[in-house]
Amino acid sequence: MNVTLLGTGNMGTAFAQQLHAAGHSLNILGRDAAKTQALAERFGASSQRPLAAASDVVVLATGYGDAVQALRDAALPDGAVVIDITNPLSADYMSLTLGHTSSAAEQIAAAFPALRIVKAFNTVFAQRLAAGPRVSATETVPVFIAADAETARQRAAELARSMGFDVIDAGPLRNARYLEPLAGLNIYLGYGAGLGTSIAPTWLRQS
Ligand SMILES: NC(=O)c1ccc[n+]([C@@H]2O[C@H](COP(=O)([O-])OP(=O)(O)OC[C@H]3O[C@@H](n4cnc5c(N)ncnc54)[C@H](OP(=O)(O)O)[C@@H]3O)[C@@H](O)[C@H]2O)c1
Repeated sequence: MNVTLLGTGNMGTAFAQQLHAAGHSLNILGRDAAKTQALAERFGASSQRPLAAASDVVVLATGYGDAVQALRDAALPDGAVVIDITNPLSADYMSLTLGHTSSAAEQIAAAFPALRIVKAFNTVFAQRLAAGPRVSATETVPVFIAADAETARQRAAELARSMGFDVIDAGPLRNARYLEPLAGLNIYLGYGAGLGTSIAPTWLRQS
């Protein structure tokens, strides 16, 4: 797939690594020109704003507070598929700044009604993404996916599977209201309770 990555931080770098390894054609757009150029060169990616419009998928890897500006800057055409990985975290990362009656994903979708927003990857730590999806010989980290647009759901699932992740369909975009608190619990367990950043939430089924 042609993938544009918005953001060059922890998640942007881990995505660049895994998307490159999975053989995708990568375009990276960041805020800091030197940092963006360095990341693009490291993973054989382009860094050209006009290419964003032709992407099969755009991965929104900025902080939630920068998401609207980053999407404005990207100038995406109507119908573009955007994977929202953001979590609306407080400054100390220990709580969410919105929830219950909305979510970061829904707020972003409301700001860009012509884009097809899909929530995914927000429960996967950057370190986990960089290390890859296999946690043992039998266990694979899942990516929870919530979307209203079927195309967006399918592209996010395809992208996750191409990097070796399992996929758990979490229903409509409004279920980002559950996925963002799940990421909050993951952050508490990883950092607050000291379990580390190799952990990831999953859902068990009777086999
Ligand atoms: N870190 C994790 O383990 C993790 C896990 C799951 C989800 N998330 C979510 O993923 C998102 C990114 O997290 P992170 O840890 O990668 O944060 P980060 O390291 O702070 O990276 C954010 C990146 O966004 C860039 N940015 C800001 N405004 C931009 C704009 N207008 N256009 C393009 N790029 C812009 C920043 O540029 P500068 O370099 O100039 O600041 C920075 O490179 C957050 O919403 C977070 O909640 C993080």
